[in-house]
Amino acid sequence: MCASSPLQCEGDLQAMVAGGDSSSSQAGCWHSDCASLTGRACLVTGATGFVGRNVVDALLRRSARPIYCLCRPGRPLPPGWGDAVRRIEGDMESVETLEAAITESQCEVIFNLAGLYAWWAPDNGSFRRANVDSVRNLLAAITNVQSDPAPRSRPKLIHVSTVLAYGRTSGGLTPETAFTEASPAGPCSSAYAASKAEGDRLALAAFQAREVSGCILYLACCLGADHKLVDPRRDVMRIAS
Ligand SMILES: NC(=O)c1ccc[n+]([C@@H]2O[C@H](COP(=O)([O-])OP(=O)(O)OC[C@H]3O[C@@H](n4cnc5c(N)ncnc54)[C@H](OP(=O)(O)O)[C@@H]3O)[C@@H](O)[C@H]2O)c1
Repeated sequence: MCASSPLQCEGDLQAMVAGGDSSSSQAGCWHSDCASLTGRACLVTGATGFVGRNVVDALLRRSARPIYCLCRPGRPLPPGWGDAVRRIEGDMESVETLEAAITESQCEVIFNLAGLYAWWAPDNGSFRRANVDSVRNLLAAITNVQSDPAPRSRPKLIHVSTVLAYGRTSGGLTPETAFTEASPAGPCSSAYAASKAEGDRLALAAFQAREVSGCILYLACCLGADHKLVDPRRDVMRIAS
């Protein structure tokens, strides 16, 4: 489990990407070799978001290869990244555009940072679309690209989730009831957390079935200059005020 801020978790990125095939949901502790990120072709989803921007920054410091970012139509890349970062238009709601992005980028690693991170939404279906259906679509795209007439090597999926997906402990939090990484998930406290847990189960099932290679990274609350925290229209600021 990585509870680091993305500003501090380059070691975790490195360890995850270095990992071999694994059915583990643990990040950063199961790798069989320590290959460098340098030279790995990467595709990042959610690169316009808070965590995604920091992950792209970290990749830029490490990789000599262009970094490909899947962006929705009308969403430009943040300024300042230069030619090393390439924009590919697509949408997590479209398997076809995801397949095209994987093919165009020839990626070896996919960082899945796209999602809906919010404490509340007027429509719980938006959590499902962003955090469950999108994972299903990405897994399908990876599998489809693998099985096309000219199969290419499988991109490894680094799927990013939240510690909230572990849910609540039963009987209150004590040293005895505290979760370990082997604990089954408890009941989730929000529609957001429940949707992330469901997306994680899809990814984990694909890893365990060896359909897709990868792992899940469980982030805790990330600190930093997050646009969501200074936007008065967003729920986090409304709760704080
Ligand atoms: N921030 C935290 O403290 C924290 C903690 C734990 C886990 N996480 C997890 O980390 C991930 C990223 O969180 P964040 O805070 O960076 O969220 P964010 O700032 O809201 O960014 C979300 C990203 O997802 C993209 N996205 C959403 N729907 C998409 C779609 N249909 N197709 C393509 N892209 C789509 C957004 O693109 P647009 O620009 O087009 O909207 C944006 O780039 C989430 O999975 C979240 O659960 C975050």
